[in-house]
Amino acid sequence: TTISPLIAGNWKMNGLSQSLEELTELAQLLTTGEAPRAVVVVCPPATLLSAVAAQGASSGIMAGGQDCHTEASGAHTGDISAYMLADAGAQFVILGHSERRASHRETDDLVRAKAEAAMGAGLKPIICVGETEEERDAGRAEAVVAGQLAGSIPDAASQHEVIVAYEPVWAIGTGRTPSNDDIAKMHASIRQALVERFGEEKGNSIRILYGGSMKPLNAREILAIDNVNGGLVGGASLLAKDFYTIISAV
Ligand code: G3H
Repeated sequence: TTISPLIAGNWKMNGLSQSLEELTELAQLLTTGEAPRAVVVVCPPATLLSAVAAQGASSGIMAGGQDCHTEASGAHTGDISAYMLADAGAQFVILGHSERRASHRETDDLVRAKAEAAMGAGLKPIICVGETEEERDAGRAEAVVAGQLAGSIPDAASQHEVIVAYEPVWAIGTGRTPSNDDIAKMHASIRQALVERFGEEKGNSIRILYGGSMKPLNAREILAIDNVNGGLVGGASLLAKDFYTIISAV
């Protein structure tokens, strides 16, 4: 593939100001070693976003949010808009993560509206899709993911940079991953859907990340699979050494 790979760390609801020491260590690893091939993104909780953006800049680490509201501003207690993420220094935002689809009942329609808002604010949305274990066992994994792609990616993506993250729900935080063959099949089917919808050139330029128990030990083989253009890393992004090993595996 000619797409430059991207490795994003999703800190989820982990990280206090002392976690910035891990970021400092990551920055040191990234600047002392050989320059990474991958674009490196860290998505901390919103409280640390401006610090991560400021501290990461000198080492090429980019910052991302973990969610945004559909509106630019207004009476939405507890929410953060895409413009606010951008204002805090974010360049990316994770949207439609399965944890939000499950615990905040986010639908494809809502994720699509958030992605539109994100692109309007100049952010690159990382749109997450993935089947549950039940859906995979029922042989519906590809159909479920195709539905999520169709519903969650806005048409406006044809004019903007958007990233897809395939995260099988049952692989998140469990230490389990699909076989390389299953990852290859799903990523090929996502690629096909993107090409059908957006045309050859655009469809082939969209990064498709794999996420779900990506670790230093399995990163190299997963990242070598066709149509895997990087990773969305949860647990293993919290430790600088582990995250750096994954970044270096691409
Ligand atoms: O967004 C990241 C994913 O949910 C993966 O999390 O690497 O802890 O399994 P994990």
